[in-house]
Amino acid sequence: MSEINNIYQKELEYLEDGIKNSTNPYHTFTLSSLNGKSPESRTVVLRGVSFNPLRIYFNADYRSPKIRELTKNDACSALFYDKSRKVQLRFKCKALLHYQNDIAKEIWNNTALQSRKCYMGPHPPSKVLNEWHPNIPLEYTKTDPDEEHSKEGYINFIHVELEIIQADLLQLHHDGHKRFKVTNENKLFFVSP
Ligand SMILES: Cc1cc2nc3c(=O)[nH]c(=O)nc-3n(C[C@H](O)[C@H](O)[C@H](O)COP(=O)(O)O)c2cc1C
Repeated sequence: MSEINNIYQKELEYLEDGIKNSTNPYHTFTLSSLNGKSPESRTVVLRGVSFNPLRIYFNADYRSPKIRELTKNDACSALFYDKSRKVQLRFKCKALLHYQNDIAKEIWNNTALQSRKCYMGPHPPSKVLNEWHPNIPLEYTKTDPDEEHSKEGYINFIHVELEIIQADLLQLHHDGHKRFKVTNENKLFFVSP
């Protein structure tokens, strides 16, 4: 079991690197939530990782369907794939939403102006539009807001924490794939690939 524990620890290091390193495929992941009985998936950017217990974090627009879905049902799944290393990392998660609280404020304060403008859009994400609109203030398509104006975005900003309930790691090898699961009590066990 120490071999798969080493593999797992290495993947967690890659995951941590993915926060800041946009060339790391773990910089983004697919988040799936439930819209009633229908699954919905979308790409989000990995904004943080914490360990023992393992948690991952992303930011979103409070007005978006994904947040409505996670408010109704906190069960979700996060999927990462590193194509060059042929590793798939799948997490069964529980979402905790940080909106207008100390944690959201701290993350917002460390959010670049360029990213803050994404929360200043006049429309809720996924709303039907009669004509194209980038959903950022039109004055900022080529520039960023100043600090003062960017504060208007905070009302739409939400920081999402995903508590990892179980990890599922698959490493593809031409001479035999390796797959194992890790529970939130750090129990590791092989599963068939
Ligand atoms: C590369 C990439 C990164 C993205 N990052 C985020 C993100 O961090 N947070 C987010 O809410 N949406 C992000 N999006 C947009 C979502 O994939 C999605 O289109 C949007 O949030 C609406 O999702 P919803 O209708 O399911 O709420 C990203 C899209 C791409 C292509």
